[in-house]
Amino acid sequence: PAPGWAITADVVVVGSGIAGLTTALRCQAAGLNTVVVTKARLDDGSTRWAQGGIAAALGEGDTPEQHLDDTLVAGVGLCDEDAVRLLVTEGPGAVRRLIDTGAQFDESSEGRLELAREGGHHRRRIAHAGGDATGAEISRALVEAVNEVIEAVNEARTIEAVNDARTSGTRTRGLRAIENALVLDLLTDADGRTAGVTLHVMGEGQHDGVGAVHAPAVVLATGGMGQVFSATTNPSVSTGDGVALALRAGAEVSDLEFVQFHPTVLFLGPEAEGQQPLVSEAVRGEGAHLVDADGTRFMVGQHELAELAPRDIVAKGIMRRMQEQGVEHMYLDARHFGAEMWEHRFPTILAACRAHGIDPVTEPVPVAPAAHYASGGVRTDSRGRTTVPGLYACGEVACTGVHGANRLASNSLLEGLVYAERIAADIAASQAENGLHARVPTPVPYPRRPEHPLLEPEARFAIQRIMSQGAGVLRSAESLAAAAAALDQLHTDARDALDENGKTAEPGVDTWETTNLLCVARVLVAAARLREETRGCHWREDHADRDDTRWRRHIVVRLNPDRA
Ligand code: SIN
Repeated sequence: PAPGWAITADVVVVGSGIAGLTTALRCQAAGLNTVVVTKARLDDGSTRWAQGGIAAALGEGDTPEQHLDDTLVAGVGLCDEDAVRLLVTEGPGAVRRLIDTGAQFDESSEGRLELAREGGHHRRRIAHAGGDATGAEISRALVEAVNEVIEAVNEARTIEAVNDARTSGTRTRGLRAIENALVLDLLTDADGRTAGVTLHVMGEGQHDGVGAVHAPAVVLATGGMGQVFSATTNPSVSTGDGVALALRAGAEVSDLEFVQFHPTVLFLGPEAEGQQPLVSEAVRGEGAHLVDADGTRFMVGQHELAELAPRDIVAKGIMRRMQEQGVEHMYLDARHFGAEMWEHRFPTILAACRAHGIDPVTEPVPVAPAAHYASGGVRTDSRGRTTVPGLYACGEVACTGVHGANRLASNSLLEGLVYAERIAADIAASQAENGLHARVPTPVPYPRRPEHPLLEPEARFAIQRIMSQGAGVLRSAESLAAAAAALDQLHTDARDALDENGKTAEPGVDTWETTNLLCVARVLVAAARLREETRGCHWREDHADRDDTRWRRHIVVRLNPDRA
């Protein structure tokens, strides 16, 4: 759709989790006029839900080299070692800067960071806050920091100021946040360079409808795509918007088949849909046992780290035992923690279990795997640059190469933090070098896209069921072919419903989200069909082994190559 209004900036950051807000704060601090656009409120999104914490070699005796080793093992041969090295060496400093920004992590009585263990880590290296509410604390600190900067730098944050900027075409100032706005598509100039984004603002009438932010740099920090499956730990906003935008813009997307299923998600019944409560790996890190329907610890003997094996191995162990016993879940037994430890160390999880009638102090907790994290995403280099000039990606939406076939626990918050700093530095340097500060890009008119017809919102549930049945934890050529056919049918139905104006469903956030879900689901399934092996979190029943001769490589997808 053609934008009805436009504002300008040096950089527009899309998304407001740890990656987005860190990028925005660092860009603003570097003197760039920065606009953050977020689909809901600044504190919505996946960061807020993170429990376990943020991994970094901060403990006595720990080193970035050991963190690197654990990350590479978890990634099963597909990590980009240079990208991981940057992550683990810059990680400790980035966490300290996050603390300087205001995040308060749990400390011992001597004032040292308390560090926990999670799957795949050979050491205690996970900093946490509020026991198991790490993401909530990080989000609080970053939102507060952003609001403080906004207050300090913007003389007026009023509707009049926004309108003035809009009508006069002048730049926004300092740092501005636009909430309740879904970013739709990338704008490019006549040379195919990034020129901003179009967005749909909901609600308050301020700048209702479709508008644009014109900027020579756009940072996608839109989070994940867990909502592509029926049961996920992700909030309802995680609909793959950034990956879909990047695909439509002709950027390269990589490793989408590697969807991480978290092993221990509270099991609320086979029909449970949408966001499900997570039971952090940190619970196993403190000594909880996984037991089967007979009360037997089935991970012992399967891996040297037993319950603390990398996440894909534990998820597979659970699925196998569920199949053997013909049951729908396993149990996590941490009754031996006692009430005091549960209340002090895991208050969020305790409350979530109790809200569902389960008391972990007195009974084992039913758990099963659910979709958790997209290890792949929009392909970037070490500066966060995608293959479209001026377009960056950061956090879960990105594929920097640090996760390979399976992300190591608690590396995701760290990745968002470290690469946000790298991206802000790169944008500041390249705009200074090229004099882009002074340039307001001129976007070419946005093309109509009949190949991406809008879907009715109800299709969301159909997509989720198709994906959970055909492309979930266990996949086969047959299940994936069925999923691909069903998704293609949804696409064909939407395209056949196009009227003579090229319009189908009524444009709105639900329809765009559903359209994005279909776009990423189709590419994910195509990649999963191609990868005829089992590696990391991609588990093919019909190709049970890892195949290093054919598949120690990445599946990279690029649509609409004429645009990039
Ligand atoms: C957890 O707390 O188990 C989740 C940590 C993560 O996904 O990295």
